[in-house]
Amino acid sequence: MAFYIPEEKISEIQNVADIIDIVSESVLLKKAGKNHIGLCPFHSEKTPSFTVNPEKQIFHCFGCGAGGNVISFVMKHDGVSFPEAVQTLAKRFGVELPMRNMNPAQKIEMSEKEQILDVNRHAMQYFQHMLFQEFSGKPGLQYLTERGISRNTLEKFHIGYVPDGWTNLVEYLSRKRIPRNLLIKTGLVVENKQKSGFYDRFRNRIMFPIFNPGNQVIGFGGRVLDNSLPKYLNSPETLVYSKSSSLYGLHIAKPECRKTGTAYIVEGYMDLLALWQHGIQNAVATLGTSLTSEHVRILKGHCEKVVLVYDSDEAGLKAAARSIEIFNKEYLNALILVLPNGHDPDSYLFKNGEAAFKAIAQEALGAMEFLMESAIRKNGMSLEGKVRTVTSMKDYLANTSDHVSRSLYIKKLAERLNIDDSAIMEKIRETIQKQKTENNRAGIIHSINQQSTRMSEAGLSNESDRMEKKIIAMMVQYPEILPEICKQDILSCFENKVLSKIGVLILEQHEKGDRSVSSLIVRVNNPEQEKFIASLAIENNKWNHAGCLKLIKQFVLSKNKRNHDLLMRIKTAEAQNDDKLLIALMEQLRDQKKIQKKRESAGGKTL
Ligand code: GTP
Ligand code: MN
Repeated sequence: MAFYIPEEKISEIQNVADIIDIVSESVLLKKAGKNHIGLCPFHSEKTPSFTVNPEKQIFHCFGCGAGGNVISFVMKHDGVSFPEAVQTLAKRFGVELPMRNMNPAQKIEMSEKEQILDVNRHAMQYFQHMLFQEFSGKPGLQYLTERGISRNTLEKFHIGYVPDGWTNLVEYLSRKRIPRNLLIKTGLVVENKQKSGFYDRFRNRIMFPIFNPGNQVIGFGGRVLDNSLPKYLNSPETLVYSKSSSLYGLHIAKPECRKTGTAYIVEGYMDLLALWQHGIQNAVATLGTSLTSEHVRILKGHCEKVVLVYDSDEAGLKAAARSIEIFNKEYLNALILVLPNGHDPDSYLFKNGEAAFKAIAQEALGAMEFLMESAIRKNGMSLEGKVRTVTSMKDYLANTSDHVSRSLYIKKLAERLNIDDSAIMEKIRETIQKQKTENNRAGIIHSINQQSTRMSEAGLSNESDRMEKKIIAMMVQYPEILPEICKQDILSCFENKVLSKIGVLILEQHEKGDRSVSSLIVRVNNPEQEKFIASLAIENNKWNHAGCLKLIKQFVLSKNKRNHDLLMRIKTAEAQNDDKLLIALMEQLRDQKKIQKKRESAGGKTL
């Protein structure tokens, strides 16, 4: 553990922070027997292998091997350390933590993020306040009014304004006694080149605070009021803001995305506000950056389908095509809505209204159809044009892993180009074949690599550990056998140190009367071993007492056999006068004897 948090506090948190509640906030879970399953937030997948067990309070992904308890989930999902995850959960569930137990360095590191968030909130309040100042806020309010933004929208999104001037915010925050170096870390304030002073990054701009899904202000975007450049300025990357994983408006859109199963994705702040104000409240914006896999994984936690709304200009079409590749990779169902020429969602909605928007949204094309139509539009219907279109669609079609969809797409393209579908099929067959062999090979190698890395990272790589692993699995899945393990002192025969350590922890915990796997996970305090335990615990208990005793017997016999083999090898080494080998073997024998003795004298020990 990075720093000391009293054990009872951690248990308290585990008792009150239900893993289903926490995971549900970012993963759509469905009940399946004893477990809840969903799409894994840690790797791309099409069918759910991410499994949460409420009874044991653990999660495990059968796809990528991620696993652990509620604290491990928060750590991995939010990318935070153990103490941070504990603190987040403690705060949410009203468990009081004694902060004095942290050392100064930890206090600084932990509070730095908190402090940045705190300053951001102050800044947001300042910007909001300024927008409604009679004199200094006038240009901002006038601009927003001209663009049709209602008072309600302004309040909902906490929109503000920073007047012209170099030090409005610097002065405001300095009056609040916020240290300069912290101001720099928020990205709101910049030090001048001569290092003699500080000035505001955002001046004379409409200010849009960017929230994370947990309602914290992580950064800002600022728009000029005229045609000057840059039109928009965003916060730089900070400890709390990363643009590749932020979606503007998600904190507000979350419930509606879940209700409708759909999210609209737009490009800009004003587009998102326009949608919201027109009653389409399941939308998020990517803020000018291209869509990333991280964005898509976050969205998959809230909806099953997205509608990408892009401008119909060349850049918009290109961006849509790029996004489709990401949707495919992350297996998210996407429709593409291309607006009539010259429009973005904001201009379209204010001109034509909500009903018109919903009507054209009904006609949004599936990703593949969109690509076909764009290619046809670009290449035309001449003979050469058709060939170019088929060529440009080749990879997309070959990449469609669902065979039914693929053949439907091929048919559609053939119809659209008025050619025979076997001609298209011929063209992509070679690509498909090539990909198949590559995928197979890569798949096998990947799974072998993944497994062996996981095992060796956990200290569990040796083939001869198999039986010891099986015993640990039994101990986790069938605790009724623990008294027998103890009585026969089975763990002292273990060769694998990691496994015997896990075994000892299981016994110790059992002795304390604690049967929770989730607490065991806290105690091992090693991510790889946590995954290992979660993967064992999530499996169904298929043990019975007789089967367990049989396994134990087998294990003891195998140890005896090893002893016997060792003696044989010693004899051979003696006969061959191989002194070096002999010494090594004798040492092994001594160790084995020690173990055996310990076992014998421990007979009758109970839990
Ligand atoms: P309005 O003109 O206010 O309607 O904005 P828009 O959203 O229509 O602008 P545009 O389509 O040009 O840009 C879409 C999004 O890209 C914006 O909302 C910004 O997030 C981002 N963006 C646009 N221009 C800039 C820029 O100059 N710098 C940065 N960093 N981002 C920009
Ligand atoms: Mn616009």
